[in-house]
Amino acid sequence: MKKCMAANWKMFKTKKEAVDTVQQLEASIDSNLPSDREVLVFPPFTAISAVSDALSENSSIQLGGQNFYPASEGAYTGEISPEMLLDLNCTYALVGHSERRHVIKEFEEIISQKVDFGLQSGLKIILCIGETLEERNQGKLQEILQKQISVLQDLSEDNISARLDIAYEPVWAIGTGEVAGPGEIQEAHGMVRTLLQNVFPEEGEKIRILYGGSVKPDNTAEIISIDNVDGVLVGGASLYADKFSQIALAGS
Ligand code: PGA
Repeated sequence: MKKCMAANWKMFKTKKEAVDTVQQLEASIDSNLPSDREVLVFPPFTAISAVSDALSENSSIQLGGQNFYPASEGAYTGEISPEMLLDLNCTYALVGHSERRHVIKEFEEIISQKVDFGLQSGLKIILCIGETLEERNQGKLQEILQKQISVLQDLSEDNISARLDIAYEPVWAIGTGEVAGPGEIQEAHGMVRTLLQNVFPEEGEKIRILYGGSVKPDNTAEIISIDNVDGVLVGGASLYADKFSQIALAGS
């Protein structure tokens, strides 16, 4: 299984900044990226088209959308559809990122619709999950992960591991500089693996589980060597081409 090294640019970068960053990134990783790694970039919507045009034809960088609405088209002011992302050469989309859950107040019902509709539309989905510090301190880690993974329970298992990844991102580690320790990552990823195997008895062991939360060039190699860590989803450090290229190539 290829490790997935993903950059989530959140609400950062104008078109020009995004193009400059992706071109620098492409120049530093293209000839060095091992064949068992995949690099994804999630620009803000307004820069996807320009970034897509700026990439070389055989680029090793794939693009994704940070969000979408679960309908093909319609009267949904301010939203965009999976088809619109596919039209801009996006192959992936994030669903259920912590900032959408906690800032925009998306709950399991819409998250479940998005996973379902996004997959049906032909996007590959990275479902983001993770507990808050309060939930962790109350001993609710497993309960929360189970609830968040339950949105997958009605999906067909058919080839699901080629279309779905999970990103485990403890909310208390996102953008805080506080990284979960190797033991905490191993424990949570092990739980996620078991929960995935419960939902998908055949495919569950092949679904990639990315870690996210203050991933940096100097902690990536250790993080991706932990059992059941199949890549990283990076926010802050991914905004800089030099840092993210070190992350994408770390330990290779
Ligand atoms: P961070 O963000 O790397 O800035 O902690 C991770 C994420 O939100 O995906």
